[in-house]
Amino acid sequence: MLLFKRNSDLNEYIAKKRAEGIKIGFVPTMGALHAGHISLIKLCRRDAGLTVCSIFVNPTQFNDPSDYEKYPNTLPTDVDLLAEAGCDVLFLPTITEIYPEGAGASKSPIPLDGLDQQLEGASRPGHFQGVAQVVKRLLDLVKPDVLILGQKDFQQVLIIKKMIRHFQIPVEIIQGAIIREPNGLAMSSRNVRLSRDARERAGLIYHALKQIQGRLGTINNSQLLSEAESYLTKELPDAQVDYLIVADAETLQPLTDRDNRPAVLLIAVWLEGVRLLDNIVLMS
Ligand code: PAJ
Repeated sequence: MLLFKRNSDLNEYIAKKRAEGIKIGFVPTMGALHAGHISLIKLCRRDAGLTVCSIFVNPTQFNDPSDYEKYPNTLPTDVDLLAEAGCDVLFLPTITEIYPEGAGASKSPIPLDGLDQQLEGASRPGHFQGVAQVVKRLLDLVKPDVLILGQKDFQQVLIIKKMIRHFQIPVEIIQGAIIREPNGLAMSSRNVRLSRDARERAGLIYHALKQIQGRLGTINNSQLLSEAESYLTKELPDAQVDYLIVADAETLQPLTDRDNRPAVLLIAVWLEGVRLLDNIVLMS
């Protein structure tokens, strides 16, 4: 696996591969890699001739400075995991390579049709502008043919698709399924900040989603969701449910009843100061 820290070196190498007619696949990450990330590397390898992964903890998408400071850094293990998974290129840019004018320099907002204000965006002001800006920058640098994203961050995928459509970037998106811990908890780099006990109990979040999925259509959505929320609050008394909704899978507007539109069940929970996200895409 090759490791590049400078845009110019990365550019030169990728341009050479592209000229050879090799399809470029790209997996952007913030490191602290787990099996979820690695599944995306494997998906990428299946589809592209050259797999590029970036590790960059993007300051502009953290609305909480302490979350940024506490973001886990496991670089030596990450490098081993990526090499073992068959990643070809690791891009490890410095902040100045990504933000030559400074991370705090003001940028005109990317139009995201208000999608950045809902759900995750409502709790984390500015978060999705930061995500959209950094992914735009990374796409400009890597110029991949295919971009691999995880369904784990469902709203993030919609935001990135909007940004790509807005700038008319010629890239295909492939979405990877959510990889879970044995108890059902969606893998996340932040899970290491949970106590062992909480991490075990947090498997209930997925079980609650599965229960809702199984009962959809039997009673109206709002009653179903409020019952599920009561169940979670009872079983995980130290958790706070930030949202639990059945939403239109494109607009994320709440759906009160089962209809034929593609829908998604989304949840965000605070547990021991850690924000946990999960979702299930519902077949309509
Ligand atoms: P990060 O949280 O490191 O996630 C990188 C990619 O891994 C994202 O596409 C995310 O959805 C995916 N992922 C995370 N957990 C997963 C799981 N359990 N199963 C499958 N895929 C999973 O998301 C980001 O970084 C950043 O916002 C980024 C897009 C890199 C921009 O900074």
